[in-house]
Amino acid sequence: MDALDALHRRSSVPRLGDPLPSPQMLENIYKAAFSAADHAVLRPWRFLVVKGDSRQKLGELFAKAGISKNSSLDTVAIEKLRCKPLRAPLVIVCVSSFNPHPKVPEIEQDLSAGAATQNMLLAAFAQGLGAMWRTGSLAYDPIVKNGLGLSTEEKIIGFLYIGTIDGGTKKLCEADVQSYFQEW
Ligand SMILES: Cc1cc2nc3c(=O)[nH]c(=O)nc-3n(C[C@H](O)[C@H](O)[C@H](O)COP(=O)(O)O)c2cc1C
Repeated sequence: MDALDALHRRSSVPRLGDPLPSPQMLENIYKAAFSAADHAVLRPWRFLVVKGDSRQKLGELFAKAGISKNSSLDTVAIEKLRCKPLRAPLVIVCVSSFNPHPKVPEIEQDLSAGAATQNMLLAAFAQGLGAMWRTGSLAYDPIVKNGLGLSTEEKIIGFLYIGTIDGGTKKLCEADVQSYFQEW
């Protein structure tokens, strides 16, 4: 797919199924992260690849976080948390890893990690895969952060769900692009 085509047509796909993307497709996705704009080439990111049975472990962590926040959570809600990572064959936990730098403040490092994440979404789309960037309160939960081994300086900026498109893709809604650009 042409690069502009991917940039203009990418959309999120919430319904994802097996199979897992091929090793070549995964390599293309990982590599795309590294062309993100990145002040001082700090590479202020890391990515935890969760697939197979590890998704159940992540689901347990989500359930533990939910119960810790609300001890009266009912079994249906707990099961819903447990099943979240099973919504796709692959979940990439995208982490912004801030490293103090004299010229690159934290916000710039977070933005670079976000750009790397967006690049991975685009690389998935360009290869005909479905993907969706999710966060929710679990991304900011200390139990989830600790369980995944993040340091205090690190942030989860997204759970990237990637898989095979299961069902249709949504119609793109055309934005009034021009109204977001003003001549100054
Ligand atoms: C940082 C970030 C977090 C997001 N978290 C969620 C989320 O938890 N749940 C959700 O439904 N969409 C979430 N989204 C939005 C979707 O990924 C998606 O962009 C949105 O549904 C619009 O669809 P589109 O990407 O096809 O334009 C998030 C997007 C970003 C950038």
